Amino acid sequence: MKVGVIGQGYVGLTISAFAGEFYSVVGLDNNQKVVDQLNKGVSHIEGVESLVLQKWIQAGRFHATKSASELSDVDIIVIALPTPLTEDRQPDLTFIDAACKSIGENVQKPILIINESTSFPGTLRKYIKPAIEKYSKNQVEHMYAISPERVDPGRGDYNQKNTPRLYAGLTPEASEKTRDFYSKFCDEMVEVSSPEVAEAAKLFENTFRQVNIALVNEFAQIANALGISVYETLDAADTKPYGFMKFTPSAGVGGHCIPVDPTYLAAVAEEHGAPATFIRRANEVNLEMSKYVVDRVEADNGGVLQGKSVLVIGLAYKPNVADVRETAAELVIDHLRDRGAVVSWHDEVVGTWHGESSAQLSGADIAVVITKHDVVSERDILASAPYVFDTTGKVAGATGF
Ligand SMILES: NC(=O)c1ccc[n+]([C@@H]2O[C@H](COP(=O)([O-])OP(=O)(O)OC[C@H]3O[C@@H](n4cnc5c(N)ncnc54)[C@H](O)[C@@H]3O)[C@@H](O)[C@H]2O)c1
Repeated sequence: MKVGVIGQGYVGLTISAFAGEFYSVVGLDNNQKVVDQLNKGVSHIEGVESLVLQKWIQAGRFHATKSASELSDVDIIVIALPTPLTEDRQPDLTFIDAACKSIGENVQKPILIINESTSFPGTLRKYIKPAIEKYSKNQVEHMYAISPERVDPGRGDYNQKNTPRLYAGLTPEASEKTRDFYSKFCDEMVEVSSPEVAEAAKLFENTFRQVNIALVNEFAQIANALGISVYETLDAADTKPYGFMKFTPSAGVGGHCIPVDPTYLAAVAEEHGAPATFIRRANEVNLEMSKYVVDRVEADNGGVLQGKSVLVIGLAYKPNVADVRETAAELVIDHLRDRGAVVSWHDEVVGTWHGESSAQLSGADIAVVITKHDVVSERDILASAPYVFDTTGKVAGATGF
């Protein structure tokens, strides 16, 4: 059985690495650098071991390519491509459309096509299937399924094997074949009654997190106004053994999922005449946190940031990964620069960003911790500036929410 995985990023490479144990995998990616690295057995994704890739390469069960014509003889295709937002924050399916074109133009026999990319309910049925049919010369009758990805890159306790996998096919045969494909390397397969339920469940999972993060971010502001510790209050609430789940405040939400997926849900809701007020407001609260953080830092520093050197510590959107997509650090840096601060940043996991390199972890007037990687010690953070504002709650002795 030969599997084509379109997109060799966080999701696609992770699935390629797991599938390589049981299938022959061809990883399609339009980034030549990624393709070259993967073919040398070098992983660029946290949680995917280079050694595993090397094993599958040596066994002749994995290679990467830029050429979509290599999809012509595969039996299954997994789509793992970005689903971002447009400039006006609407769902952007241009990457998915490109995948449909690659499939339609190159696959001439009936196969199983599974979408793992996150998108709004109806994407598989009303967008992917018609698009592939539009690009296909021979009108091939493929099978279609959705199995939204839930991977959390860099996480140790849950992975492809022990995270239950939702799935649904457009037909019973597509469902059955999807189950067979993943069952080799997933312990628990959960079938739902339609692709739309699977697509909506994935969006709701991340919307649940977005809304709860917004709630705790709002509560951090309330606790500060009341003069009580937000962390002590959350710990106290967390002693309730049921009906409460603890979230912690932050400078905002980052990554490809939490700031983006809820907007997919809101957009499709509004298109169907259902209000998504709560989801929209949660997004705004999270975006506004960067300004709140800078307001607090400014107020603590005599109300003036002009000319002060500010070191932003931790650019990545979460600890121990190099992913800077939608990172709240960028908004914090923008607000600081707007107020005249001389901003540099330290993040050796990220290394370089927008042509700038990670600065020394020392010598600033002010430090603002956005993300704390394990490789950075609390002691070094505290020594980096006379005033340290910590948004993570992990640096004892720093000022915080
Ligand atoms: N990253 C996560 O933690 C995560 C978790 C669950 C779900 N998802 C969802 O999975 C999907 C993929 O996200 P990701 O994080 O893996 O993205 P990514 O940006 O890490 O990877 C996408 C890859 O696709 C390649 N690519 C772009 N256009 C292409 C094309 N036309 N043909 C071939 N390759 C192409 C890019 O070069 C890149 O390597 C998204 O819908 C995302 O929301 C992501």
